Amino acid sequence: MAKKAQFASKIGLIAATVGSAVGLGNIWRFPAETQANGGAAFLIIYIACVFILGVPVMVSEFALGRAGRSDAVGSFKNLGAARPWWAVGGLAIIASYMILSFYMVVAGWTLEYLVASLSGHLYDGISTVSSNSAIFTARMQDMIGSTWNPLIATYVVIVLNIIILILGVQKGIERLSNIMMPLLFVILLVLCGVGLTLPGAAAGLEFFLRPDFSKVNSSTVLNALGQAFFSLSLGMGILITYASYFPKSTKLTRTAVTVSMLDLMVAVLVGFVIFPAVTSFSLTGESLQGSTLVFVTLPEVFARMPATQVWSVLFFLLLFVAALTSTISIAEVSVAFVTDRFRTSRLTATMVVLIPIFGLSSVCALSQNPSAGMTIAGHPVFDLFDDVATNILLPVVAMLTCVYVGWFAPGKLLLTEVTNRGTMRSRTHGAILFILRFIAPVLTAIILLSRFL
Ligand code: PHE
Repeated sequence: MAKKAQFASKIGLIAATVGSAVGLGNIWRFPAETQANGGAAFLIIYIACVFILGVPVMVSEFALGRAGRSDAVGSFKNLGAARPWWAVGGLAIIASYMILSFYMVVAGWTLEYLVASLSGHLYDGISTVSSNSAIFTARMQDMIGSTWNPLIATYVVIVLNIIILILGVQKGIERLSNIMMPLLFVILLVLCGVGLTLPGAAAGLEFFLRPDFSKVNSSTVLNALGQAFFSLSLGMGILITYASYFPKSTKLTRTAVTVSMLDLMVAVLVGFVIFPAVTSFSLTGESLQGSTLVFVTLPEVFARMPATQVWSVLFFLLLFVAALTSTISIAEVSVAFVTDRFRTSRLTATMVVLIPIFGLSSVCALSQNPSAGMTIAGHPVFDLFDDVATNILLPVVAMLTCVYVGWFAPGKLLLTEVTNRGTMRSRTHGAILFILRFIAPVLTAIILLSRFL
């Protein structure tokens, strides 16, 4: 078998892992969750969830992947885990494949909006003073609810994935991340500068940063937890797979903290762009939920600013870059599985994984068009995949991974990995183990049950 792939540099390894974590979850889901859950109070609870639960769970996935040196299933097997345990890896692969099917479609939408911003078509015939909601809503229908546009855009994203995945871990994933992640931060900082200097930005900042704890209830906490898991790409086998490419010298706890902080930073910076922009143009009554935020409310903001197209291009480029690096990490879970389990070349594995995605993504894309009839029991396939993968499989996998690493893994797996085989000390090992054993399984089980109650 070919030598196990490895990330070439520390920066590249962080860029790739952050590339997976930073995605539509930060730019799109986070502001919507923050708005729906009362602003700053949600932010504070979210930060607590990231550090108290997110980091330890991330360390557990890193430990599994680096010690197991294989894909999500193979890592469990290489550690000698009994059958029910490696099935957890199997569930992670199924979940990631389902997410991939619809995430490709959403990435395709961001590409359509990037192209429409570049060509200026998105802003044809709009007013710079009065509301354009009706026009933007109609354009959104066209971009995401029609037949061909979303399909073509999705296929372009799939082809980009194929090219990068065939190039491999170092020449594909790592190199792309090394270019895209700095670009993403630069764009975000520019947009932040613009957002914070808009007249009336203060009211938006106040909503985002002044907590109102009267709005907090148990569902706020559950939503914050769910958001932390989604945003950090936990419970999908992604971090297990990426950690199998970490060199022996990588410090796992430090890497988990760095990745989580950068992911959190992106979400907060996005808040600094979106909340001031929305209040500044008195669009607070507009929805920040779901696709309306990015495809109607924000274009409305850009339309009222000078240099409309510049901001629009920068924003949708940001969204597209974030989405692309995430799709690649999700696809890599299955590519690694096929490569390691069936000892195929990357080329074959990439094709085996991504050719069926053309079909599955098409079904997801078309299910956004009510007349296409792509529904199961009345639910669009897209929503069904999203719901099953993110709300059910993700917490199940995360919970079982914690239980395995906390209780059942052989020979002090966690201690060996966080101390790089005893070559360094770990001050946090005890706390991480405690969280993996007692706190994380209970909380993930509650998240899961809450979906059914
Ligand atoms: N974490 C990424 C995001 O925030 C993408 C992702 C989500 C990856 C779920 C895997 C699983 O969008």
